Amino acid sequence: MEDPTPSRLSTPPLPGIKLFNLTGRTALITGGSKGLGLAMAAGLASAGAEVMLVSRHPNEAQAAAEQVAHDFKCRAFAHAADVTLPADVDGMLTAAENALGKVDILINSAGINIRGPITQLTLEQFTQVMTTNVTATWLCCRAVVSGMRARKWGRIINMASALGLIGIAGRTPYTASKGAVIQMTRTLALETAADGITVNAICPGPFLTEINRPVASSEEFQRTVINAIALKRWARLEEIQGAAIFLASDAASYVTGSTLTVDGGWTAQ
Ligand SMILES: NC(=O)c1ccc[n+]([C@@H]2O[C@H](COP(=O)([O-])OP(=O)(O)OC[C@H]3O[C@@H](n4cnc5c(N)ncnc54)[C@H](OP(=O)(O)O)[C@@H]3O)[C@@H](O)[C@H]2O)c1
Repeated sequence: MEDPTPSRLSTPPLPGIKLFNLTGRTALITGGSKGLGLAMAAGLASAGAEVMLVSRHPNEAQAAAEQVAHDFKCRAFAHAADVTLPADVDGMLTAAENALGKVDILINSAGINIRGPITQLTLEQFTQVMTTNVTATWLCCRAVVSGMRARKWGRIINMASALGLIGIAGRTPYTASKGAVIQMTRTLALETAADGITVNAICPGPFLTEINRPVASSEEFQRTVINAIALKRWARLEEIQGAAIFLASDAASYVTGSTLTVDGGWTAQ
């Protein structure tokens, strides 16, 4: 074990900005065609990374990649895959390695929500949420670990949720799935810690993306969620970017197995 009390820094301090520089890094982002995935892709590209954006709809993924490439003058690729399908996940990794050369950073942002009281939900709906949010995250993590391990560097960021930390009525599939993502994150962090790989989860509060359209204008959502948040408002899309850049960068080299809340203080109480 290294000396726990060195008298000097083992590496000279870097100017702050370099800690967050992702130049030379490559990122694969599932759910990258829109919402938080696209916002995080833009964030990583702004910090210097090359990115591949994945969703089931090739035209949407392509449009998103073109937007990022244009806005940040960087290489950005698109790939169509259903991440719940093991063969698609294998194809996605091959496509990413062909386009980017390697995958340094994986962000698992593909996710869905199906809401309703438990007695009104079907087993198929529960399974659909668990398969997309949990099984697909596990498949994508499994796909990238060997390459990261061989290169002795990797960053895996799983999109969990504040609803992986607290309960809310009418969300049994979603809260169960995000709790599972947090536990998967912790366990994989332990498994890969010796290999230069960090694995962390981001727990966002409410962002006004497609996934929240069904509840966006509901009074019940305003009362039970927005009013319960310390900052008393929806998050702005760009407010997810700092967390993603941080966890993907050298600034977070000693951060693994953690859950970083970006929830306006929702879970602080
Ligand atoms: N927005 C929030 O308030 C919030 C809060 C907490 C956590 N989160 C989590 O953050 C992540 C991103 O959410 P978001 O707000 O960005 O949602 P979104 O706007 O609905 O985007 C979801 C993304 O996932 C993709 N996707 C869904 N199923 C897929 C599949 N089987 N294979 C490949 N791609 C798939 C979608 O593309 P296609 O439909 O084209 O496949 C889309 O790109 C999710 O995991 C969500 O649970 C969001």
